[in-house]
Amino acid sequence: MDKSRCKQQLAFSLLLGLWLPYCLTQTTPSSTATSKPTPTPTPSPSPRPERLKVRLSGYPRKHNEGRIELFYKGEWGTICDDDFTIANAHVLCHHLGFVSATGWTHSAKYGKGQGKIWLDNVQCHGGEKSIEFCKSRGWGNSDCTHDEDAGVVCKDERIPGFVDSNVIDVIDENKVEEVRLRPVVGMAKKKLPITEGVVEVKYKDGWAQICDVGWTAKNTRVVCGMLGFPHERKVNKNFYRLYLERQKNNFHLHSVACTGTEVHLAACPLEFNKPNATSSCAGGMPAVISCMPGPLFMQNSGLKKKLKISTNVRLKGGAKAGEGRVEVLKDNVWGTVCDDRWNLLSASVVCRELGFGSAKEALTGARMGQGMGPIYMNEVKCLGQERSIWDCPVKNITSENCQHSEDAAVRCNVPYMGLETSIRITGGRTRYEGRVEVLTSDPNGTQSWGLICGENWNTKEAMVACRQLGLGYANQGLQETWYWDSSNVTDMVMSGVKCMGNEMALSQCQYHKTVSCQRAAAKFAAGVICSETASDLVLNASLVEQTVYIEDRPLHMLYCAAEEDCLSKSAAKANWPYGHRRLLRFSSQIHNIGRADFKPKAGRHSWVWHACHGHYHSMDIFTHYDLLNANGTKVAEGHKASFCLEDTDCQEGISKRYECANFGDQGITVGCWDLYRHDIDCQWIDITDIKPGNYIMQVVINPNYEVAESDFTNNAMKCNCKYDGHRIWFHNCHIGDALSEEAERRFEKYPGQLNNKIS
Ligand SMILES: *[C@@H]1O[C@H](CO)[C@@H](O)[C@H](O)[C@H]1NC(C)=O
Ligand SMILES: *[C@@H]1O[C@H](CO)[C@@H](O)[C@H](O)[C@H]1NC(C)=O
Ligand SMILES: *[C@@H]1O[C@H](CO)[C@@H](O)[C@H](O)[C@H]1NC(C)=O
Ligand SMILES: *[C@@H]1O[C@H](CO)[C@@H](O)[C@H](O)[C@H]1NC(C)=O
Ligand SMILES: *[C@@H]1O[C@H](CO)[C@@H](O)[C@H](O)[C@H]1NC(C)=O
Ligand SMILES: *[C@@H]1O[C@H](CO)[C@@H](O)[C@H](O)[C@H]1NC(C)=O
Repeated sequence: MDKSRCKQQLAFSLLLGLWLPYCLTQTTPSSTATSKPTPTPTPSPSPRPERLKVRLSGYPRKHNEGRIELFYKGEWGTICDDDFTIANAHVLCHHLGFVSATGWTHSAKYGKGQGKIWLDNVQCHGGEKSIEFCKSRGWGNSDCTHDEDAGVVCKDERIPGFVDSNVIDVIDENKVEEVRLRPVVGMAKKKLPITEGVVEVKYKDGWAQICDVGWTAKNTRVVCGMLGFPHERKVNKNFYRLYLERQKNNFHLHSVACTGTEVHLAACPLEFNKPNATSSCAGGMPAVISCMPGPLFMQNSGLKKKLKISTNVRLKGGAKAGEGRVEVLKDNVWGTVCDDRWNLLSASVVCRELGFGSAKEALTGARMGQGMGPIYMNEVKCLGQERSIWDCPVKNITSENCQHSEDAAVRCNVPYMGLETSIRITGGRTRYEGRVEVLTSDPNGTQSWGLICGENWNTKEAMVACRQLGLGYANQGLQETWYWDSSNVTDMVMSGVKCMGNEMALSQCQYHKTVSCQRAAAKFAAGVICSETASDLVLNASLVEQTVYIEDRPLHMLYCAAEEDCLSKSAAKANWPYGHRRLLRFSSQIHNIGRADFKPKAGRHSWVWHACHGHYHSMDIFTHYDLLNANGTKVAEGHKASFCLEDTDCQEGISKRYECANFGDQGITVGCWDLYRHDIDCQWIDITDIKPGNYIMQVVINPNYEVAESDFTNNAMKCNCKYDGHRIWFHNCHIGDALSEEAERRFEKYPGQLNNKIS
């Protein structure tokens, strides 16, 4: 069925609380139409079976090539190269989130693995979901040695929407894996993060110190970066000497000689002590360092103000602090960075300039969602010492060599704040869902877990809870949790929680001083369903600007629109059916640039039949259309619209999944968009009562945060609007977060300034 025709029939759908389940050419069974909605049952995804973990390992590997290792029965092991084929490599690359394999390697090209050789004589067809479904000799049955370990080379292109939970990036196989700072007893401040102390490295038998002979500030910089701190600072060694000389030290490492740009100590030249000689460090003592935290992790608020972070670089779309798509500001407009040659060195420059440590991961293929604006940089090649990505060598971009599906992103090292220790979830069916419990202490200092009142608990609060739990994005915030196991419930200890959405912990949100909850039972306790990915809707601003016009529409064509509340109040007083309404019309194209499909919250069983246009209402409000004057007051009654959501079209290589016709599933697939043409009924703002002048036109998608998104700051789109009484123009249409603060202020002033000129 032709979508635009269907959309026109459904058109009336841009109304308060409307969902259209299917195209109107289909006749509606009246029984469905009149049936009452049933209560919504538990809306949660079924638990996913644990996927086989696969990783790329060895040296010299890249993010898309390396020795294959599988995690089976609690142990990492390799695959033997006997009978290996490109089809095997396809299956493995697919599993790792790449579109295909370009090759495979034999004879331990990336070095020999350790432990088990899990599979041998593997023969895949190529289409298997996982290597475990391919023919082989069976787990652990092999006559190979590690000299025959197989590797793969994957095409450096991510599967759109790929969830990377099973990809484990191994930083290094050197013996130095983990590093910590041990504060010295007595001098230790209890507060987190720990910024100063003795450097300790983990080795197989525990933690050991580093002999500081020849230790440099560059070494300190590397360790600080690993621990989530952008800079090093001086430390008074004498202060520690006396104490440390009395300690029994175990010097595992010495002669560390970093250049300062390494993202891990293991990448620095260093030497290990021989066993049985580990307590000698002639002329030295254990390395002690001090790091400067970024403003986000700084306790001292005086210092916090002095710390500067870049204002022309930002991270967008990440679930946690220190992760997201890299965006840079040029000529007052934010744009993205292309992932060609994107690596840990460049990513670390970005992390540090934003007040985080070095980079943990340099992500390619828009793994933190896609941007909408310009793409400014390609082939960024930082050396590591730069103060900003803006100082790094880059190539100019052309539209042929980069698309937003290649947007670069980072995961930065952030300091350990221990925030996850004071929150937990219970009662859910998977580890991603449950009633939220927080740890509180009474005046006597006794700590106990307790529930949160479900009243007014919504998506933003759930976002903070999921972030604090380390579980990613909020899929849903639940106000009732009666359907979950309530055998061991605790008392309610928190109520009135109200978050902005960007807090790192619930304790940073507003909440009542004393618990006040009308329905203080566990079944009305706040719950969350968290998710590693989320959708992200954005309106195409340039299309709005290009398609705007005025239509004087005769009243006799507007009966349904009136019934659906698409006209302003004064329409009620008109002399129906004579006369007309003046409508401001434009097209809306809504893209899902996130990492999960956007789906209405309510299932179709709760959609309510609407007689006039013959369609269903479901989600109360999907968009707001408003016209604002210079002081931000709404002058044209914005109507609240709901759509029939579907994939009108998609980026190359992505297939449509949702359609309104024939009771189809509704939603917008990642990488697809839904188009509402300017000539659809109700796709307008009624400006009959508006005087000529300058205004701001605003569209807000998902305004009540009803459906989870990874980023709500890009949900508003605004235009300057000039109306001379006959014609209308839009200028400067842009997404809410696309401009610099300064440019946004200038934009907001536009109506006032021009009003003055006109009058
Ligand atoms: C280390 O010392 C222990 C006894 O202290 C001894 O048994 C062991 O053989 C020594 N190892 C080496 C490598 O010298
Ligand atoms: C990149 O573009 C800028 C202007 O946008 C220009 O000044 C510069 O010379 C270009 N660099 C290269 C290598 O083409
Ligand atoms: C705190 O301790 C005092 C004295 O030990 C006791 O009377 C009081 O009940 C305690 N309060 C709480 C909230 O446990
Ligand atoms: C409830 O608590 C008891 C005792 O602590 C424990 O044995 C049981 O497993 C718990 N039940 C659930 C569902 O967590
Ligand atoms: C937005 O609309 C404009 C104008 O129709 C079009 O050229 C552009 O490709 C659209 N942007 C995206 C990301 O689809
Ligand atoms: C905003 O402007 C409207 C008329 O344009 C006026 O009635 C209203 O009082 C103004 N509000 C403020 C807060 O200035």
